[in-house]
Amino acid sequence: MPKLVFRNTDGSEQTVEANVGASILQTALNNGLTGVLGDCGGACQCATCHVYILEPGLEQLPPMDGMEEEMLDCAASPRLAQSRLGCCVTIRDEHDGMVVQFPPTQV
Ligand code: FES
Repeated sequence: MPKLVFRNTDGSEQTVEANVGASILQTALNNGLTGVLGDCGGACQCATCHVYILEPGLEQLPPMDGMEEEMLDCAASPRLAQSRLGCCVTIRDEHDGMVVQFPPTQV
């Protein structure tokens, strides 16, 4: 079972086990983490699941599709090269150890 490291804006981290096939959003919410909101329920319609994927995990992710690309422009925090939407990224075994940084705000 891969583990993800969620980093809060104050630098503190929580390492959690993730189910393969679950999204980053589901994994965070299932573990009670509050750095993402997921207001649309994971339908790629709100951008409140914005996260930054730190290297080297970013390189292991598939490219984003058009919907994610478009919705990221609506994120409340700055969009960076490391930006992804947590509901659009599905966890795989090779993502073990990936560091997911929460942005300053989701609204
Ligand atoms: S939860 Fe709404 S866009 Fe991801």
